[in-house]
Amino acid sequence: MTFIFVWMLALTGILATAADHAVSTIAPRQQNVSSTWPYGPFSTRGRNIINARGEVITWAGVNWPLSGETMIPEGLEHASADSILDRIASAGFNFIRMPYAIEMVDLFYLNNQTDTPFPQTLISALGPDNGTLVTSQILLHNPIWTRNTTLFKIWSDIVRIAARKKLYVHPDAHVSKAKWCCSHTDGNAWFGDEHSNVDSWKRGLGYVASWAGNHTNIVSMSLRNELRESWVIPRGGYNWVNFVGNMSAAAGVVHAANPGVLISWGGMQYGQDLSALTAKRNLLTAGCYKCDAVRDGFRREPVAFDLGDYPWGDKVIWEMHLYEGSEDMDTGNCRMIEAGLYRNGFNALGIGRPAACNSTLRASGVEEEWCAPAQRLTPVVLSEFGRRQDGGLMSDVLLGCLKEFTKRYGVSWAMWSLAGNYRIREGRQQDEDTWGLLNGTWNGWRFGEGVEGFWKPWVRDMGLAVNE
Ligand SMILES: *[C@@H]1O[C@H](CO)[C@@H](O)[C@H](O)[C@H]1NC(C)=O
Ligand SMILES: *[C@@H]1O[C@H](CO)[C@@H](O)[C@H](O)[C@H]1NC(C)=O
Ligand SMILES: *[C@@H]1O[C@H](CO)[C@@H](O)[C@H](O)[C@H]1NC(C)=O
Ligand SMILES: *[C@@H]1O[C@H](CO)[C@@H](O)[C@H](O)[C@H]1NC(C)=O
Ligand SMILES: *[C@@H]1O[C@H](CO)[C@@H](O)[C@H](O)[C@H]1NC(C)=O
Ligand SMILES: *[C@@H]1O[C@H](CO)[C@@H](O)[C@H](O)[C@H]1NC(C)=O
Ligand SMILES: *[C@@H]1O[C@H](CO)[C@@H](O)[C@H](O)[C@H]1NC(C)=O
Ligand SMILES: *[C@@H]1O[C@H](CO)[C@@H](O)[C@H](O)[C@H]1NC(C)=O
Repeated sequence: MTFIFVWMLALTGILATAADHAVSTIAPRQQNVSSTWPYGPFSTRGRNIINARGEVITWAGVNWPLSGETMIPEGLEHASADSILDRIASAGFNFIRMPYAIEMVDLFYLNNQTDTPFPQTLISALGPDNGTLVTSQILLHNPIWTRNTTLFKIWSDIVRIAARKKLYVHPDAHVSKAKWCCSHTDGNAWFGDEHSNVDSWKRGLGYVASWAGNHTNIVSMSLRNELRESWVIPRGGYNWVNFVGNMSAAAGVVHAANPGVLISWGGMQYGQDLSALTAKRNLLTAGCYKCDAVRDGFRREPVAFDLGDYPWGDKVIWEMHLYEGSEDMDTGNCRMIEAGLYRNGFNALGIGRPAACNSTLRASGVEEEWCAPAQRLTPVVLSEFGRRQDGGLMSDVLLGCLKEFTKRYGVSWAMWSLAGNYRIREGRQQDEDTWGLLNGTWNGWRFGEGVEGFWKPWVRDMGLAVNE
């Protein structure tokens, strides 16, 4: 409950009044408002995500990937979709970010607009023996499917079961070519990268947006995960200008295919930096880690981006990631972490400027205020962060700071990840992941003490129950 109070304070004086929260005063703007949970479609109002009844929605959840080579959600050869979803709900989570590969849609178009039966991708990714074995194991645990069940049908069934448990599902365009993400050399890094065709990407987003329209509990989806400089295609135009050009075009495609869905827009440098957009800087000259320079940027008329210029402006939510392995952000203590988060995009929440902003003034080729306030209030979600699930969790500096930060400002979040193991990851089959919330057999927590002592209390403190 405490965060609601803080939230009210944050709202007062920035938005009209705290009375904005009163459900009854908000008239639904869309025609087809669902009269049952989840009360879609959703939209944004200032820094908040609101449902069609005008209620502020907060998410706390997990990532459950299907972006590996098989394009089938991980773990289904070990446990049923229903039991996995039950376990997610049992910890209080209300949100599942599901990373997928655009290749899923490419396959659909390659095969004369027919969706692929799931044994096919298993066999091509795992080989005939293991592919056949894992097919049988998936069917054993999930008798609702047959060998003819297709990739999108599996995903649809999972989304429907999730709806019964009041779990939101957020499709995340994680990679173009299905495989482990993310590096500078994986061919999925940037627009036009080795495996990252821009037209296929937009076609894939359009398809997933229409598919999402068939599921009431898909109220949001992403444009692209963790954009970064490609080292496969050198000087590939990695900068703010091409970022905004491609992302705004893609947002238009999603909005045209599904005008109801919220669109999450992640940052540069592995999802960490949206500063030029939130602070409305000149995109030609704004500071940008590892970016390709716009050499004549200072000679040209300034170019800035404003969500308000687009018909989908009130559908966009900013999306940020942060890991200890960050190349350029200081994750050493809470003061610096908060200054970095504020500077890189969380300023869009209209929160106070962190004190440590003063010690981080930088010159990146141009004089600019490092911690400039945002030009437009917009929701910001923290959709990836994580670490090994062991005793170190309790005293982890970064996760501890993120916990306090999200609680204080009512920031929606999703941890990386649920997966106790991966069907195939970087060539290794049934590869255990010590970062997974679940253990390698998907029927128990990897570190139960951490779930009880760290994750559940965090979820509880987010006060999600007010959403129902
Ligand atoms: C509302 O639903 C009807 C029928 O399902 C559909 O034809 C119409 O386009 C929808 N309107 C909006 C605004 O989504
Ligand atoms: C593609 O699908 C359509 C509609 O199902 C069918 O009429 C057509 O014969 C198919 N084409 C090929 C090459 O399979
Ligand atoms: C799969 O589809 C084929 C062709 O439509 C059909 O003959 C077969 O019985 C189906 N198999 C299962 C397990 O549903
Ligand atoms: C949405 O559902 C309808 C009706 O079941 C189906 O015909 C259509 O193919 C679905 N759309 C997508 C993109 O899956
Ligand atoms: C998208 O990015 C590519 C690669 O940097 C660039 O060549 C292209 O012009 C961008 N497209 C738009 C619409 O900005
Ligand atoms: C930060 O610096 C500004 C300008 O020098 C100063 O006005 C402000 O009081 C400082 N804030 C903190 C928290 O130190
Ligand atoms: C089959 O999968 C197992 C792990 O379950 C792995 O150890 C083995 O190498 C795989 N076999 C082949 C031929 O890839
Ligand atoms: C996962 O947890 C369950 C329940 O505690 C346990 O039965 C199972 O052996 C565990 N699996 C692994 C690989 O530790």
